[in-house]
Amino acid sequence: MAFIGTDEINKIRNSASIVDVISSYIILNQHGKNYFGVCPFHEDHSPSMSVSEEKQIYKCFSCGASGNVFTFIENFLNVSFAEAVQIVANMVGISISVDINKKSNPKYEKEYNLMNFVLKFYQNNLNTQEGSKAVSYLKERGLLENTIKDFEIGCSFDKNMLYNILNKKDYDDKLLNDLGLINKFDNKVSDVFQNRIMFPIHNLDGQVVGFTARCYLNNDNPKYLNTKETYLFKKGSILFNYHRAKEAIRLNKELIVVEGNMDAIRLYSVGIKNVIALMGTSLTKDQIEGLKKLKCKLILMLDNDNAGETATYNLGNMLEENNFNFQIVRLSGEKDPDEYIIKNGKEAMLENIKNAISYNEFKLNYFKRNKNLNDANDLAEYIKAVIEGLKNTNDAILREVTLQKLSNDYNISYAVLKSQLGEIKNINTKKIIVDEKSEIKKSSYEKICESILFYMMHSKDFIKLYQIKLGVFPLKKYRAIANEIVYYLDKYKTINIADFISYAENIDLKDEIMAIINSEDEIPLTDEGMLDLLENINKKIKQDEIKNLKNEVKNEVDVIKKRQLIAKMTEIKKELENI
Ligand code: UTP
Ligand code: MN
Repeated sequence: MAFIGTDEINKIRNSASIVDVISSYIILNQHGKNYFGVCPFHEDHSPSMSVSEEKQIYKCFSCGASGNVFTFIENFLNVSFAEAVQIVANMVGISISVDINKKSNPKYEKEYNLMNFVLKFYQNNLNTQEGSKAVSYLKERGLLENTIKDFEIGCSFDKNMLYNILNKKDYDDKLLNDLGLINKFDNKVSDVFQNRIMFPIHNLDGQVVGFTARCYLNNDNPKYLNTKETYLFKKGSILFNYHRAKEAIRLNKELIVVEGNMDAIRLYSVGIKNVIALMGTSLTKDQIEGLKKLKCKLILMLDNDNAGETATYNLGNMLEENNFNFQIVRLSGEKDPDEYIIKNGKEAMLENIKNAISYNEFKLNYFKRNKNLNDANDLAEYIKAVIEGLKNTNDAILREVTLQKLSNDYNISYAVLKSQLGEIKNINTKKIIVDEKSEIKKSSYEKICESILFYMMHSKDFIKLYQIKLGVFPLKKYRAIANEIVYYLDKYKTINIADFISYAENIDLKDEIMAIINSEDEIPLTDEGMLDLLENINKKIKQDEIKNLKNEVKNEVDVIKKRQLIAKMTEIKKELENI
C-alpha cells in the first residue's frame, strides 16, 4: 500500500460525514440518532445497516459488517484502503500529498520504469513502417484501434532493436536478462521477443511486469511466448486483465473467467469488461486469493474442447472447496469465447452468460463423458459419480432435485439413491461437527475483555479507567490489542473508533480488532458500563487466583506452607468481597 500518514488519514476522515458518503451509494433513513439502510454486503431485505453520525461508523446487525467511512468504500467499491482514502479525499475536496496511483514498491522503481519504457517502445513500433504488418494482423483479427490502445498492444522486431536502445541508455545486461528482456549466452546477446505481437501483462496492482507475445508472421512455435519467471513476473500470482476487471466489477458484481488473453480482450472490446484470463487452465493459491479479494461471483467460461471441459471440472472443484459463488458457461459451436463473439456477436454471448448453469448441473453432463449409459456398469458408475459430486453441496433443495431427476431419468428407486447419498452425507456431517468443536467458543471472560477493548477504542477516558482499574489484561491476545490502543493514544493524544479503524488497517492485529468491533453489540458507552466490566474482570482474576490456590493447598504436604497458602487465599477472598 502507498504510504499515507495517519494524521492525514484522520484529517480526511474528520472532514467527511459518514452519513453523507454512505448515502451517496445507498439510501439511508434517519431513526432517532442513527441512520438505517439496506446492507450492501449481504443479501438484505430490510434495512439492517445502521450508520452513526456521532461515532462515524457503520454496522450491520445482520451480517456483522462494520467499519468507518474508508472501509465502507473499500468494500463497496472493491478498492484498496489507500484508494478508498483517495476517493473520500476527493469527495471532501482535500488533495492528498502522496500519489496513491503510483503504487510501485520503491525497491523496484527502476525495474518498473524500465518495463514501462519497454512497453512504450513496443507500442510505438506499431506506428512505424515495419510495424504495418503487425497492424494488419491485429486489424484482421478485428481489433479496433481503441482496443489496441486499451490493452497497450505493441510489436517487437528482430535485429535486437530493443537491446540496442536499452544498451545505449546504459542499462545493465544483467538487469535486462534478469527481467526476461534479453538472452545472454557466452557474451552473445539477443532480444527475447522477436517479430511478435506484444501484449503487456500486469500484476494485480496494474504494473507491467512481463509480456505474452504471439507470433504473427508465420506459425512459429510456441504460439505465445511468455516472459520467463522473474522477480517481477510471477506467473502463478498473475491474472490477465485483473487490474481493469477490478474497476468493471464495481457495477456488476460478477467476473467472467476465460482461458486465453485473446478471449478476455474480445469480451472487453465488446463492452463485457468484467473479465480475466487464466492464461492457461489452472489456478494457484495466490490467484485464488486474488480472486477472493474481488468478493464477487465468478462465471467460468473455458474453451469449448475436451481440455476446457476437464479444466472446468478441476477448477470447479477448486472453487467449490474455496467457497466461491460461481457458475459455468459451456459455449457450443466455436472453439473459444473469442471466436464465439466473432461469429455470433455480443448479444448471443450475453445470453450465454445469463443462462449460466450451476456447477452441479455441469457435472450431471460431465460424468456422462466416455460412458454408455445403456450399459449397466457405466450407468452405475455415472450415478455414483453424480451422488459423490453432491457431497460438497450444502444446498438441500439442490440435492433433492438432483436425486429426483436421477430417479426419474434412469428409473432407479429414489430410496436407494437417497440412502447412497445419506452414507456420504453422514461422513460429511461428522466432519462438520468436529470442525465446530475445534472452533473454541468464546468464554464470558473473553467476551468481557473484548467489550473493555471496544470501550477503549472510543475514548481517552475509558483508556484512563482501564489503566487505573486493570492496567494489564490477563490474556496475552488481548494484551497486544490493549497495547496498540494505548500506543495510539500516546502518539495521537486522542482516540475515537473511526480513526482507530483506519489505524488498524496497517497493523498485524487488524483481523482481531475488526472481529471485536463486529461482534460488539451497541452497548451504551458510559463510565458506569466500563467500570462494571472492569469490576467483572477483576473479580474473575481473583476467582481464578482462589481456584489456583485451592489446588495448591490440596497438593501441599508441608503444614506450614499449607497454612500460608490458606492465609493468602482468605485475603484474596476478602478483596473479592470488597470489589
Ligand atoms: P489458446 O491457444 O486457447 O489461446 O491458449 P487463444 O487465446 O485462443 O489464442 P489465439 O486466439 O490463437 O491468439 C490459451 C492461453 O494459453 C497460453 C496463452 O496465455 C493463451 O492465451 N498459451 C497458449 C501459451 O502460453 N503458449 C502457447 O503456445 C499457447
Ligand atoms: Mn483463440
